[in-house]
Amino acid sequence: PTGRVTDQLARPLHDLRISVTDRCNFRCVYCMPKAVFDQNYSYLPHSSLLSFEEITRVARLFVAHGVEKIRLTGGEPLLRKNVERLVGMLSEIKTASGRPLDLTLTTNGSLLAKKAQSLKDAGLQRVTVSLDALDDAIFKRMNDVDFAVEDVLKGMDVAHQVGLGPIKVNMVVKGGMNDSQILPMARHFKDTPYILRFIEYMDVGASNGWNLDEVIPSAEVQRRIHAELPLVAADANYTGETAARWRYADGGGEIGLISSVSQAFCRDCTRARLSTEGKLYTCLFASHGHDLRALLRGGHSDDDIAGAIALLWRARGDRYSETRTQHTSGLVERAKKVEMSYIGG
Ligand code: GTP
Ligand code: 5AD
Ligand code: SF4
Ligand code: SF4
Repeated sequence: PTGRVTDQLARPLHDLRISVTDRCNFRCVYCMPKAVFDQNYSYLPHSSLLSFEEITRVARLFVAHGVEKIRLTGGEPLLRKNVERLVGMLSEIKTASGRPLDLTLTTNGSLLAKKAQSLKDAGLQRVTVSLDALDDAIFKRMNDVDFAVEDVLKGMDVAHQVGLGPIKVNMVVKGGMNDSQILPMARHFKDTPYILRFIEYMDVGASNGWNLDEVIPSAEVQRRIHAELPLVAADANYTGETAARWRYADGGGEIGLISSVSQAFCRDCTRARLSTEGKLYTCLFASHGHDLRALLRGGHSDDDIAGAIALLWRARGDRYSETRTQHTSGLVERAKKVEMSYIGG
């Protein structure tokens, strides 16, 4: 039961995003606000996490169905003990056409200076680093754990030195909080090897108290940057790319605009998500996941599990961001959505 599968909207299965831990050492206001993720929050016990062997087994089955890109996320994936070992195991998987996978990881950068070399040695190809401000006070207000900008920049540098590039930098723009940093961030990363991407603040999960008024649409980000640093539109690298690319007219590199609120990109969404405890989510905004761990631990064959994955993907009709307004009006719907730290960014 292997081979390519497409869903109800003819979208192939191309990317697998694997959350390896639901924990994080940051408390970003838009993701794991302290008020919710406090000492009393119950994270998953170790026994419910998929083991590296289980993750690798599932990953192989996804690859047999056409997945070519795997991204490790969290929470903060570098907090998962020995994550390098998992990277090593995944890096041995070849795509259906015999090429290595595009194997990458999203991190807050806090442990990158320490881990970049071992990740590279294990076979990781590149990393994406989250950084929401250059101003220390603003960044600390965003991460809410007093983490300094300097330490993230240091981690990025080490990652770049060891060859984990091209490195993308993700900035979530939350109106009134860090939008003053749009231009400083653009100036800082222009003419560098880093690709800065601005992300619209999303209504993901049920705890960040999302409000449309705090979303700065990408068109506004583009306008503000273009006024000082002229931009020209660039073509997408591949179908279904989340970011719209813009180049600096003077040749100073490029930026990306991820407009999940103002211009949904569900039409080409080829992403499946595997939660920390092995549930398959066919959309970032799903309220329900499919328990692959039960199959893995229930003595089922690879064929059975591959068949189940294909069935779930074929049934997929998700396009939440395109229908967002209907959903967000209903508070009940909202309360059921899973957290991004659990499902993986
Ligand atoms: P690259 O190929 O490396 O550019 O990967 P990517 O575009 O998938 O980027 P990344 O994983 O860094 O995603 C950046 C951000 O885009 C995420 O943190 C989310 O905020 C948003 N995003 C990614 N995938 C989806 C998706 O499927 N739906 C929605 N609504 N947002 C997404
Ligand atoms: N809106 C947009 N992006 C988010 N992320 C987490 N929460 C949100 C949100 N509410 C993404 C950011 C961050 C990554 C780990 O998850 O891109 O860099
Ligand atoms: Fe942690 Fe990333 Fe969420 Fe911030 S956005 S709390 S760094 S998982
Ligand atoms: Fe894909 Fe769901 Fe995001 Fe749309 S909202 S792009 S279907 S994950």
